[in-house]
Amino acid sequence: MVLRMKRLIAFFSLLLSAPFLFATDFTGIWVTSAKQPDGHTALLVLTLQQTGDKLTGKIENPWGDLAIKEGKVDGNHFSVAAPNDEGRSYTCDGVLDGDHLRYSFHDPYAKPYDVVAVRAKSDPFVIANIIPPPAVRDLPPNGLAKTPPMGWNSWNLFAGRIDDKTVREMADAMVSSGLRDAGYIYLNIDDTWEGDRDANGVIQSNNKFPDMKALADYVHSKGLKFGIYSSPGPYTCAGYEGSYAHEAQDAKTYAAWGVDYLKYDWCSAGRLYPDTAMRGVYQKMADALRATNRPMVFSLCQYGRANVWEWGAEVGGNLWRTTGDINDTYKRMMQIVDTQSAIAKWAGPGHWNDPDMLEVGNGGMTTDEYRTHMSLWAMFAAPLLAGNDVRNMSADTRSILLNKEVIAVDQDAMGVQGHRADKAGDIEYYARPLNNGDMALIVVNRADAAASLKLPWSEMHIAEGTKIRDLWKHEEFTARADQTFIVPPHGSLMFRMKSPK
Ligand code: GLA
Repeated sequence: MVLRMKRLIAFFSLLLSAPFLFATDFTGIWVTSAKQPDGHTALLVLTLQQTGDKLTGKIENPWGDLAIKEGKVDGNHFSVAAPNDEGRSYTCDGVLDGDHLRYSFHDPYAKPYDVVAVRAKSDPFVIANIIPPPAVRDLPPNGLAKTPPMGWNSWNLFAGRIDDKTVREMADAMVSSGLRDAGYIYLNIDDTWEGDRDANGVIQSNNKFPDMKALADYVHSKGLKFGIYSSPGPYTCAGYEGSYAHEAQDAKTYAAWGVDYLKYDWCSAGRLYPDTAMRGVYQKMADALRATNRPMVFSLCQYGRANVWEWGAEVGGNLWRTTGDINDTYKRMMQIVDTQSAIAKWAGPGHWNDPDMLEVGNGGMTTDEYRTHMSLWAMFAAPLLAGNDVRNMSADTRSILLNKEVIAVDQDAMGVQGHRADKAGDIEYYARPLNNGDMALIVVNRADAAASLKLPWSEMHIAEGTKIRDLWKHEEFTARADQTFIVPPHGSLMFRMKSPK
């Protein structure tokens, strides 16, 4: 009896572990390559391995793979979840319907959408005969970005929802709001402008952007400069067409359109090349841009990998991202701040550390936090790329983005990046030497409560009686040891004064 029971259990457990005995078999490489409403072809790959009612495998994105941690089958239904390194899960939930896998795909950073996938023999993200990057050499400066680039970029607020109409409205608003005249010159379209390539391999814009040349002309007619975005990989981070194997051709297209600035985002290049190949890969596009003879600012975006600050200028970069993406929270903004002082020495005229774009005005931080954000970006000689809706700005947002005294610190001609000079508990001091012999000083209160403090002027070698300009109050005061300053939670003070000898 016991033996028969054991045999029965063994039989059933065999049944459970043998997918071929199940009515459904989800095992395979499931590929969705479908024209999207905007006209670009999106690629999503799901590699599944079914064992009984369990699914393992990976969800593949243009920028890399995520291992499935939880995957299950129930009849013809399936669901999988793959967390990223921030612990946020990408999920697919749906059914096997004949030869089609129909599911809802949820990227934790975007809206869910429905996907229909078919089985493929090979993984389209795996590319054969990868083109080796060119030999590395030092490129001379291109003469651009003598001060950190300033402008506006579509990604932080619009992500995939940017289109021709919105860009034109932004161009108008950059003029009417005074942003252009305050120095915000570049109007940069980030990811999701790309269409597919034509029969000759020429990149097309998608149907959100019917005529890039006309759009660039419009932007130029407003006294602004025009920027776009691509990737050295076959796909951008949002899964649009990248420049891999088309670098020279794309550079020519950009020049013909009238592009003045290219942000070049590593993304799917990481599937092709190790980080050690980054220099050559970036240099290839720098050479292609230069060969067009149109001046184009070259922005490296590879999230600060491989100590990019040590070589970004040599491969023709005018700026390089020093971190992963910012988001509209004080916590993330300050995480980025904490990594910037150590690399300050690599910034200078023509080549800047880029701690990512501004979130000022997007609603996720308090006004004091946004002031701290703007002050620190100016301290770090960071590119000032606004990322908010400039058509519709509150008085606070305007007063932050348009603070000419803070902008002047950012744009200082000497181009020495400031750094954190001291710290006492939750109070931090940042200093930056300026071209005319002045010094900029920021006092940040990282505590969740307001701080009431006296500033250690003598430790900073600043004599009593020194005239100090408050760059947020727009007024002068005289340094005195007994002065008390109130700094709001997560807020800051920003001053300018003669540098102590
Ligand atoms: C990456 C970049 C972002 C943005 C998106 C677009 O995440 O770091 O700045 O360009 O790609 O897909």
